[in-house]
Amino acid sequence: MKGKFIVLEGPDRCGKSTQAKLLYNYLIAQGFDVELTREPGGTPTAEKIRQIVLEPGLDVRPMAELLLYEASRAQHTQEKIIPALQAGKIVICERYTMSTSAYQGYARGIDLKLIDTVNQIATTGLQPDLTLVFLMSDEYFSSRGEYLFSDRLEREDQEFRQNMRQGYKNLVERTPHAHLINADDDVDAIHEQVTELLKKYHITDLCPSQKS
Ligand code: TMP
Repeated sequence: MKGKFIVLEGPDRCGKSTQAKLLYNYLIAQGFDVELTREPGGTPTAEKIRQIVLEPGLDVRPMAELLLYEASRAQHTQEKIIPALQAGKIVICERYTMSTSAYQGYARGIDLKLIDTVNQIATTGLQPDLTLVFLMSDEYFSSRGEYLFSDRLEREDQEFRQNMRQGYKNLVERTPHAHLINADDDVDAIHEQVTELLKKYHITDLCPSQKS
């Protein structure tokens, strides 16, 4: 693939949307052709699936939940991510396959091997060039207290969230090109770490013709 694929991961409210926007602006300022997108969603069809899967109060069984996330991913990958990478763009995506392993696997309890299989089907084997996983410390996490839970997944209990967080820690260990970032740090310090990692992983080494 001519372009580069960067994924930002982590629990809800870990600051990844802020970092995704900062990174997008940083790369645009350097003249790169960049696509900023998200999962679930990212295309009109996938955004409709997002509404269903996140609607509070809706009865969505674990296997249906898994397959809805994967349906969104299959559409998004085919319609948007792969064409952008083929065109030489840098794609920044908020959440991808690691979210499914952390949430539906570690937290919901669906077999991780099964999830690897459906992830493989939905992505047709596409893997990020770099995955940045933003995690706050347990102390920071609890000091923030309760916040207004807005979507169906955010309304899950403390145990679900602890298992998901632990899942992320395990997944970073077993995923190539994945990095844990301390989300307790301030926004600018984190952005600096992110840009350093991009250099380390040669993301910004794209030749000038691949800049817009
Ligand atoms: P967002 O709030 O970061 O946009 O994500 C929506 C919610 O969906 C968030 O709580 C995480 C959850 N999620 C999963 O459970 N599995 C997945 O595969 C993805 C992509 C998100």
